[in-house]
Amino acid sequence: SKDVTILAIESSCDETAAAVVRNGREVLSNVISSQIDLHKLYGGVVPEIASRKHIEKINQVIEEALKEAGKTLDDIDAIGVTYGPGLVGALLVGVAAAKAIAWARKIPLVGVHHIEGHISANYIEHPDLEPPFLCLVASGGHTHLVKVEDYGKYEILGRTRDDAAGEAYDKVARAIGLGYPGGPKIDRIAKEGNPDAVKFPKAKVDGAEYDFSFSGLKSAVLNYINGCKMKGESFDPADLAASFQKAVVEVLVGNSMKAAEELGISKFAIAGGVASNSALRAAMIEACEKRKMKFYRPSPILCTDNAAMIGAAAYYEYISGARAGLDLNAVPNLKL
Ligand code: KG4
Ligand code: ZN
Repeated sequence: SKDVTILAIESSCDETAAAVVRNGREVLSNVISSQIDLHKLYGGVVPEIASRKHIEKINQVIEEALKEAGKTLDDIDAIGVTYGPGLVGALLVGVAAAKAIAWARKIPLVGVHHIEGHISANYIEHPDLEPPFLCLVASGGHTHLVKVEDYGKYEILGRTRDDAAGEAYDKVARAIGLGYPGGPKIDRIAKEGNPDAVKFPKAKVDGAEYDFSFSGLKSAVLNYINGCKMKGESFDPADLAASFQKAVVEVLVGNSMKAAEELGISKFAIAGGVASNSALRAAMIEACEKRKMKFYRPSPILCTDNAAMIGAAAYYEYISGARAGLDLNAVPNLKL
C-alpha cells in the first residue's frame, strides 16, 4: 500500500511545532519553537503572549519541518492539527494555518485531540506497540488514566479532580523558588534529596478509585514551607522536592497498577510532560516488571508538547476516514 505522509501542526500552549511523519510511526522532521524563555518572566504561560508568538513563528516552523524532511507540500497527503484542548487563542493559530494550507493546496485536513497526540507519541517510539493498552497521560493541563481500546478509541478510567500533576510540580517549584517550568527542576534537585524527609498525605479520592487529586498535596507542601518561614527555620529544598515527588509518583503508579490488575491489561504506557520525570519512569519500570507487564514510554522530547505525536495520531484518524472541514474550530475544552 501507498505511504501516507502527514504534515502535523501543534500550537495548543507555549510550543509552536510542526513535523512531517510517515505512516504514523516514522518521524521525518520534528521542529519545536519553545516560548519558555518569554513566559518564565511571568512565572507561567501568558495566553495573549503565547498567541502572538505563535503567529510570528508558525510559518517559519512549518517551512523548516518540510525542509528538514526533504519534502514540499506536493508530497503531503494530509495535514493534521491540534484543535483542542488548550488555550483558545493559541490553538486558533495552528488551526488557521492548517486550514489555509489545506484549502490552498486541496490537501485533506484532520483534527487531532491533544491528549490523543500525547498517547500516540508511544507509537513513534515503539513500532511494535498496538492497542489495547493502558496509558497514564500526565502533563501541565491533564492527568488522565486512559484505556486505549483501539486506534482512536479511548475510555477514560480516571482523571484529576483538581490540579494536574504537572501543575502541582510547577506550583511547588515556584514556592521553593525554583522558577518555571518547575517539573524538570524538581526532578533534578530531588535526586540530591531524601524522599522520606517529610511525610506528605497520599491523596485519595472517595468513590472514584482511579481518580487523582493533587491540590491537597500541593497545599500541604506550601503549608510546610510557610510553617518553616514563620518559625524562622530553614528547609532543605532537595528534601522537600524529593518528598513531594515521592507522594506524586506513589499515587500515579498506585492507581495505574490497580487499574492494570483489575482490567487484566498487560501493556502499560505513559505520556505527557510529566512522563519524562525520572522518578516516575523508574517506579513504573519496577512496578511493571514486578507484574510481568510490558512498559512503554516516549523519549523526553516526545513527552513534552511536539507535532510529531500529532502526526502519529493524525495518521490513524486519516486511515480510519476522519476528515475535518474548513469549518474546523479551536475547542479549548475538547473531550477525548
Ligand atoms: O505535555 P506538556 O509539555 O504540556 C502540556 O500539555 O501541559 O507538559 C508540561 C508539564 C509542565 O507542568 C512541566 O513542569 C512538566 O510537564 N514536566 C515535568 C518534567 N518535565 C516536564 N514534570 C516532572 N518532571 C519532569 N522531568
Ligand atoms: Zn501537552
